Amino acid sequence: MSDLDRALAAADDGLDKSLERLFGLLKIPSISTDPAYRNGCREAADWLKRDLAALGFAAELRETPGHPIVLAKQPKPGGLNVLFYGHYDVQPVDPLDKWETPPFEPRIAEVAGRKIILGRGASDDKGQVMTFIEACRAWKAATGDLPVGVTLLIEGEEESGSVNLPPFIEDAKAELRADVALVCDTTMWAEGKPAITSSLRGLIYEEVTVKAANRDLHSGMYGGAARNPLHVLSAIVAALHDDDGRVTLPGFYDGVGETPEDVREQWRGLGLDADAFLSPIGLSQPAGERDRMVIEQIQSRPTCDVNGMWGGYIGAGAKTVIPAEAHAKISFRLVGDQDPAAIRRAFRAFVRARTPDDCSVDFIGHKGSRAIQLPFDSPALVKTRAALEAEWGVAPVTIGSGGSIPVVGDFKRVLGLDTLLVGFALDDDRIHSPNEKYDLESFRKGARSWIRILAALAA
Ligand code: BES
Ligand code: MN
Ligand code: MN
Repeated sequence: MSDLDRALAAADDGLDKSLERLFGLLKIPSISTDPAYRNGCREAADWLKRDLAALGFAAELRETPGHPIVLAKQPKPGGLNVLFYGHYDVQPVDPLDKWETPPFEPRIAEVAGRKIILGRGASDDKGQVMTFIEACRAWKAATGDLPVGVTLLIEGEEESGSVNLPPFIEDAKAELRADVALVCDTTMWAEGKPAITSSLRGLIYEEVTVKAANRDLHSGMYGGAARNPLHVLSAIVAALHDDDGRVTLPGFYDGVGETPEDVREQWRGLGLDADAFLSPIGLSQPAGERDRMVIEQIQSRPTCDVNGMWGGYIGAGAKTVIPAEAHAKISFRLVGDQDPAAIRRAFRAFVRARTPDDCSVDFIGHKGSRAIQLPFDSPALVKTRAALEAEWGVAPVTIGSGGSIPVVGDFKRVLGLDTLLVGFALDDDRIHSPNEKYDLESFRKGARSWIRILAALAA
């Protein structure tokens, strides 16, 4: 039996224990955006530190102004060294009443013959992080060693924009030196069909407050004369898209490249029609740019979305009021060479130009990230493709992702590292939504995939 086979067997034998450990991590409420869960974040970081220390890693917490970073090292001098990144923080759980069982009480269920792991973070990203850690554990159990040097960097602020991570990476530059970065935080193409992600969209996120009168007003006494900030903000939001679904900000499409025709041809061949993509979420009509395929709309085209909008009376029953303030949270997904700073400026100018003189507008800007394009070919990529094919029995596809993982840009800029994005989540995992899940097969074969990838990289 080869070392690889022994490691794969160790993973299979230890699956029940692996699940127990994953459940231990899933029980910890590590919501990074909500200050009420500060302790939960630290608890998750501690949990990982302990688990990695038990595996022989030199594991420690590195403090940041926000949540701690877990750093764990088992280098291989003279050998190949990888830097694995993941995040232990999770998204808020609201709307809580839509969860069938509590979000931090993980369980296994069987739906349509598929076993699934349910719980917040099952897929994004605790389950995915644990596929890699379980792969390391299996190698240690089978051979007493890892085939490559491994440094794990597991942060707790990805879901809130990784604000404290770039300065840490700058500071820890020497410690983080590696030959390639690995990230397990993306999806497969479909059930049973693995993927390597070669592009990520960038993101900017703005919070907008429009203020009108100096207090909430009786809408009978003042209605007609007093400006309603909800109307002002709604008109601004409505003006952000034209009738063809294009974003109207001046200069918005600067730096957006055209996808080469041969790539578009491949995408057509993937057969992702609007119905196949939208019907599982209860929709039927693509709402993006009118002349684009759905796959372009979600991968290669930039977008603008309102994530939340409120103001005035939202309690039970009717209350006649003209609110003093209106609020919106608005994000843009970026592609190609779009410049986050330029788009932020264009957005703010757009809003100010449409705000009446006697109203005021305030912005809170969150850190932006550029879109990422990774190489289509590198020795590590070729080896990873072969390893994934060996595990899944089909060749992986190369896909673009509509989501964002800010650190990938920092790995390139600061560490000069290209990242291999390999994940085992599925589109129907409900990440960021109620009843998040991870298929047991994703977890099991995900760990086996990493076992093979580490062997392939070492060879
Ligand atoms: N894992 C996701 C990104 C992702 C989603 C990649 C789907 C591939 C497919 C990540 O945790 C995430 O949610 N990122 C945020 C970034 C933001 C909070 C800065 C996103 O994309 O909204
Ligand atoms: Mn994630
Ligand atoms: Mn996420």
